[in-house]
Amino acid sequence: MKRIQLFEFEDFNWFPNWLRNCMTNLIVVLQRMMGTPEALASLIAGIVQDTKISRIVDMGSGSGGAMPEVFKILRAKQGLENVELIMTDLYPNKEFIQRFNNTPETGISYYENPVDATNIAAAPEGLKTMVNSFHHMPPKEARKILKSAQENNQPLLIYELGENNIPLLIWWILLPISLTILMVMVLFMTPFVKPLTWKQLVFTYLIPIIPICYAWDGQASLPRIYSFADLDKLLDGLNKENYTWEKGYAKDKKGKKKGTYLMGIPQ
Ligand SMILES: C[S@@+](CC[C@H](N)C(=O)[O-])C[C@H]1O[C@@H](n2cnc3c(N)ncnc32)[C@H](O)[C@@H]1O
Repeated sequence: MKRIQLFEFEDFNWFPNWLRNCMTNLIVVLQRMMGTPEALASLIAGIVQDTKISRIVDMGSGSGGAMPEVFKILRAKQGLENVELIMTDLYPNKEFIQRFNNTPETGISYYENPVDATNIAAAPEGLKTMVNSFHHMPPKEARKILKSAQENNQPLLIYELGENNIPLLIWWILLPISLTILMVMVLFMTPFVKPLTWKQLVFTYLIPIIPICYAWDGQASLPRIYSFADLDKLLDGLNKENYTWEKGYAKDKKGKKKGTYLMGIPQ
C-alpha cells in the first residue's frame, strides 16, 4: 500500500479534548475556504435521491467539519427538505453537542455518546459519511468498516479533502517547508474560528501548541490517506453482489477537483 501509518496527535486518547477541538475547529475553516461543503453536498444529494434514505450519520465529526454547511445546502434543495443529520465521534465534542442540540434548527444533532466508526453496525441507521476521518483507520479497521457497511446494507460515503499522490521521499524533503506553511496558515485562519475561545487564541498566538500540532497532523494525514489503488486492495475479496463501490474525485460546480471519495451503495 502507498498509505503509511504515521501518528497524529489527535489519535492519542491522552491528547486533551479541548486541544483536539481547537484543531478540528481549524479544519472547519479550511474546508469552508476550500469549498468542500458544496462538493460534498452534491455527492450526498445524489445518494439521498437514489437510496431515499434521508438520515445522514456522520462519523468522526470532530467540530462538525463541513457537515453543518452541507446540511443547510441539502435542505435548500427541492425534495431534500426533510434530510436529517446526526454527527458522531469517538471523542464527542461537548461544546458542539450543546450548540447543535440546543439549536431551534430541527433535523441536526450531535450524538452525546462515543461512536466508534469501526463498529458501523452499532451506529444509528442511515447514510454513513466519514469526512477526513477514514485515513485515521489502519488497514484492518478500514477494511472492517467497508465490510460492515456492505454486510449491513448501509450506504457509506468516505471523503478526503487531500490526496495521497506525491512520492513519500518528496513528502519528507518538503516536510520542513510544508510544516512552516501550515503553522503560518493557522495564524491567519484562527480569527475565522467560530466560536473563538480564549484557549484557541492563547494557545495559537502566545503558546503556539495549536499551530504545531495542527501542522504535524495536517502533514501526517497526507501519507495516511488511502490512494485509489489502496482502496482497491481494501475492497479486494468483498462480495460485490447487491452492493456497488464507486470511487473518484469530488468536484465543484465548475468541475474543479475538491478531494476524493469512495462511495458504497446497496442495490
Ligand atoms: C481530522 S478529524 C475530522 C473531523 C471532521 N470530520 C472534519 O472534517 O473536520 C478526524 C476525527 O475522527 C475522529 N476519530 C478518530 N478515530 C475515530 C473512530 N475510530 N471512530 C470515530 N471517530 C474517530 C477524531 O476524534 C476526529 O474528530
